[in-house]
Amino acid sequence: MLLHLQTWADVETYLKTSRAIIVPIGSTEQHGPNGLVGTDAICAEVIGRGIGEAAGALVGPTISVGMAQHHLAFPGSITMKPTTLIAYIRDYVASLSRAGFERFYFINGHGGNIATTTAAFSEIYADTSLSRDSNRPSVKCKLRNWWESAAVKQLSKELYGDSEGSHATPSEVSLTWYAYPDAARPMTMNPAVAPKGEFTDAADYRRNFPDGRIGSNPGLSTAEAGKRLFDAAVKDLAVDYKAFASS
Ligand code: NI
Repeated sequence: MLLHLQTWADVETYLKTSRAIIVPIGSTEQHGPNGLVGTDAICAEVIGRGIGEAAGALVGPTISVGMAQHHLAFPGSITMKPTTLIAYIRDYVASLSRAGFERFYFINGHGGNIATTTAAFSEIYADTSLSRDSNRPSVKCKLRNWWESAAVKQLSKELYGDSEGSHATPSEVSLTWYAYPDAARPMTMNPAVAPKGEFTDAADYRRNFPDGRIGSNPGLSTAEAGKRLFDAAVKDLAVDYKAFASS
């Protein structure tokens, strides 16, 4: 169930049975030579919607622009500064919490969002702690990185081993090709596996990782693998979501 396809009355009815909602959060940033700029937002969205279907849960609008300053030397990348993203997440949660939502299950598609999203959760808890209104509903937020679910990690390892890398991975590219088959761009990478290492700002990133990848070979991506990864993630995370929703 997608929030934006409900009426307010539908949402009021939903709140009588559940006070939990899934929030996909991703990024809009370069993903190497054959990965889509929307990869992280697409992955979070399709898995978030998959969990929503499996668990009968409401899914909020995707936060599709994340904290991606280090990708800005590649055209098409968009960032929110950490402070902007914190404010956005805080307002998103506060709006729904006012209506009665109390459990926010964030499905994340981008490693660069983790620190900022966690900081946003601390701001949200601080708002409650500092409030003199003791009747405020108790809000809980949880962040789950889809690629770190146990079943996904095992499958990625089995499919790609050391070619998985950490950015523009064959797993995430495969998942987007499963979601959008017409967007698939099979190609051979040169070098096959990209360099690994650290980065700071956008210029530093592009110097160290000239085609945008880190440690990965997305030339191994297939839509078939994407389907397997999708099924594994949804199976794992729907169970985790249900436990959180009833916590
Ligand atoms: Ni990514």
